Amino acid sequence: MKIFSGIQPTGAKHLGNYSGGFRQYAATQEQGDAFFCIVDLHSVTVPHDPEDLRTRTLDLAALMFATGLDPERSTVFVQSHVTAHAEAAWLLGCVATIGELRRMTQFKDKAGTRESVSVGLFTYPVLMAGDILLYQTDIVPIGDDQRQHLELSRDIAERFNSRFGKTFTVPRGVYPEAGARIMDLQEPGNKMSTTGGNPQGTIYLLDPPEAVRKKVKTAVTDSGREVVHDTNEKAGISNLIEIMTVATGESITEVESRYESAGYGQFKSDVGDAVVELLAPIQARYHELRDDSAELERMLTHGATKAREASAPTLEKMYERMGFTRPKGE
Ligand code: TYM
Repeated sequence: MKIFSGIQPTGAKHLGNYSGGFRQYAATQEQGDAFFCIVDLHSVTVPHDPEDLRTRTLDLAALMFATGLDPERSTVFVQSHVTAHAEAAWLLGCVATIGELRRMTQFKDKAGTRESVSVGLFTYPVLMAGDILLYQTDIVPIGDDQRQHLELSRDIAERFNSRFGKTFTVPRGVYPEAGARIMDLQEPGNKMSTTGGNPQGTIYLLDPPEAVRKKVKTAVTDSGREVVHDTNEKAGISNLIEIMTVATGESITEVESRYESAGYGQFKSDVGDAVVELLAPIQARYHELRDDSAELERMLTHGATKAREASAPTLEKMYERMGFTRPKGE
């Protein structure tokens, strides 16, 4: 079984990324041959600070190992270190259509608020499709916000296969049962997000304990009393229930019954504590790893070598199937 997922290095990582991303990476790496990619090429689709990108790339690498990725088992690497990704994006960009890219809601959301929109932001999902397809990926652990992009990757794979002959495995998205879309604590109608979110409603993975507790305590909830999961009527409480399941590993029903006769106050205070408890060891490991940039760079270099080897045959097959001549070894 081949597993692939990607995560952007820009922006402080939050509990939504943990739920849909990091924790699923650590769990799925047990199931087969796993590749986890720091997608720096995706991060330059919106205006960015070059120095910040460099630092954040190492920050993210440290966080990936701190949340449980095992460098012996998984290939953790940086997208721009493996040039096959940019090449695959070009080739697949000639298979994807403008019509399907225009339908991407993330593009519409991100482009909608900007004066100037890069071509890269528009073709972003094609780069993502290349990331996944280059590794003959069977499963892609992601959050719900990436569902549409994953479906597009499947469509592109199927179209390429039928036009040029079977080249790609058609990948399947894997979403957490609860916590596939963690919502902003202040605006429970919107997903928790680095770019569009409210910082007071966003729990960052490196937030100190007091900040976490305060954010949870001041989370927007309805005026009722019952701790029950109902995303239509009780978006805020439902979100906190899902956060509790992420922190403790319980099911939604288990959390509901544990708080059957408790009020919101007690529940919120316990959610805050549970998240603090979840984050403490991650933060400690993160700081340890982050202190040694040279070691992180070494691990990423090793990851890039493995990723280059794993992706090269598929890229070669793409060129061949599309009718390109290839340089002969000298
Ligand atoms: P990114 O960097 O925005 O997010 C990384 C992961 O976090 C998940 N996520 C969430 N899950 C639950 N609730 C939320 N509020 C929440 N916010 C983010 C995302 O779903 C994702 O799994 N385009 C991708 C990166 C990418 C990629 C890939 C992913 C590039 N190539 C190939 C998979 C396969 C992105 O921007 O994720």
